[in-house]
Amino acid sequence: MKITIVGSGNVGSSCASFLAQKNIVDQIVLLDIRKNFSEGKSLDISQMISLTDSSTELIGVTNDYSQSKNSDIVVITCGVTRKPGMSRDDLVNTNANIIREATKKSIFFSPNAKFIIVSNPLDVMAYVSYITAKIDSSRIIGMAGVLDTTRYKYFLSKKLGLSYHDIQSLLLGGHGDTMVPLYRYTSISGIPIKEFLSEEENNIIIEKTKKGGEQIVNLLGTSAWMAPGASIVKMIESIIKNQKRIFPCSVLLKGEYGIKDTYLGVPVILGKCGIERIIELKLNNNEMNLLKKSSNHVKNMINKVINH
Ligand code: 2OP
Repeated sequence: MKITIVGSGNVGSSCASFLAQKNIVDQIVLLDIRKNFSEGKSLDISQMISLTDSSTELIGVTNDYSQSKNSDIVVITCGVTRKPGMSRDDLVNTNANIIREATKKSIFFSPNAKFIIVSNPLDVMAYVSYITAKIDSSRIIGMAGVLDTTRYKYFLSKKLGLSYHDIQSLLLGGHGDTMVPLYRYTSISGIPIKEFLSEEENNIIIEKTKKGGEQIVNLLGTSAWMAPGASIVKMIESIIKNQKRIFPCSVLLKGEYGIKDTYLGVPVILGKCGIERIIELKLNNNEMNLLKKSSNHVKNMINKVINH
């Protein structure tokens, strides 16, 4: 199993580090346009790995996509990240060009790869990658829902004083202010969330989750990388081990939820073919309206970037 990570910045290198420690792939290629950057990151991670039981090999390259040849999965993390005061949407034009280029070069050398897109604004970048790669949308998957759900579970566990391992939940919609909470689908060890807190109290946790990325940007001066890196690894593991786990991922909707021709976060089964199935939940009117609002927001951004 060979994985290429395009972009060796904080998210790319933390993903490489978590993945390598799991010892579930043979080789990880880290690629970056910055001279010697991936080479340095790979050396550091390799030396860390030599202290573990893992035998995953790391290769760092400067913009040499030929080294990514025949990857099973390509993870696209490259592009600029936001600084305090910026929204994810502010990155759209700069990152669209970067993602087009990275997708074109990666698909040339790995025509059968699945792609996990991570760069922001996530849903728009996943769409840009999809129209550039010209492959089946089941192989172009955006990572956001795993991260947002993890943040939600973390905040909820703190509020309730119980383990996040016992929380089951799903967040839908775009990666940003328009994410859609599903109070009705949240439970704790099978007990509906309403036994623990009201919908109003839950909405406060949702607001914290929506601002979870921004909170870290404001604290660190740049965006998060540990939780994003680990979230990507969860998705890679489900694909390469054909675990068929259900995760909220950003995928191309073709009429599911009454929405077409946009990428948006919905629950999917992730297995060896990439997206094996999109799960369509019976949303109530309020949830459906929020999802439509989220999809309109993403569609507007997509139109701006496609016509740019
Ligand atoms: C976040 O939410 C980087 O968008 C990412 O932290």
